[in-house]
Amino acid sequence: MYVCLCEGVTDGQIREAIYEGCCSYREVRSSLGVASKCGKCACLAKEVVRDTLNELQGNQAALAYPASFVAA
Ligand code: FES
Repeated sequence: MYVCLCEGVTDGQIREAIYEGCCSYREVRSSLGVASKCGKCACLAKEVVRDTLNELQGNQAALAYPASFVAA
């Protein structure tokens, strides 16, 4: 889905930028140019960034603290 029509940026591109190292909305914005023209996409872009970062933090917490341990 397109998030930013002015720059042609999709939610997938925003997620990919975060997977590749962007850690904030500001970094995503400077990397992809999202919300750099009319700005109408800023709220949705921030939401995608926030959801993706939360998702990644959840995954990292699951890896750092395994919920179950099975002894061989
Ligand atoms: S829709 Fe993103 S800057 Fe216009």
